[in-house]
Amino acid sequence: MTSLVFFVFSQTKTETYLKQTTVWRFDEQIRQPSSSLGVGAWSRELAPLQTCQPDRIEQSVARPSLTLLLRINGLTLRIDADPMTRLSRILRDELGLTGLKEGCCEGECGACTVLVDGLPVNACLVLGFQAQDRNITTVEGLREAGKLAGLQEAFLTYGAVQCGYCSPGMVMAAEGFLRANTDPSAGEIRHALAGNLCRCTGFETIVQAVASEAARRERVRT
Ligand code: FES
Ligand code: FES
Repeated sequence: MTSLVFFVFSQTKTETYLKQTTVWRFDEQIRQPSSSLGVGAWSRELAPLQTCQPDRIEQSVARPSLTLLLRINGLTLRIDADPMTRLSRILRDELGLTGLKEGCCEGECGACTVLVDGLPVNACLVLGFQAQDRNITTVEGLREAGKLAGLQEAFLTYGAVQCGYCSPGMVMAAEGFLRANTDPSAGEIRHALAGNLCRCTGFETIVQAVASEAARRERVRT
């Protein structure tokens, strides 16, 4: 039951909640999306259109659909979509991968974090056509033999989940970090998750969960 918190709850209600209450950050450093995707340039151009309201970008200019080939969670999928549709909306609306959340659609909250070629990226700042020929992993793709991954179990064990809205993005950011840093300090964990906002937990339990998972992986390796 508890694990459902990761994936299922009222997005509309929670988005309203996110906008109305105070936001705490790990620190003032906000992770930038992968520059290898060329995200910075186009996100500046489209900045006035950045919003989580559906169809603001999509309806601003009439464009034909393109067939996109996307590699998601190990599967190659062919979908017809407006090439300017955000990856976050393709994943949620076209493919039903609703583990990913949208909070700000401006690259500020990290709720939409997925792994692109193993790196944490804000899916709200990636256009569909930019995601082609990349390996995309969503929180649904972390499952191991149908069970929650070790990192997700650690979040539950340490009580690092309350409303759960930030949790999928937080887990994916942590997963990308742990693949690159196998023996992180608490400070390094905080720095790595600086682009992910959580208003419920106070962050400490999240840091403990990630540190615990790093230690578990180290035990498995040795
Ligand atoms: S929805 Fe907030 S960073 Fe993407
Ligand atoms: S925002 Fe509620 S658990 Fe993080």
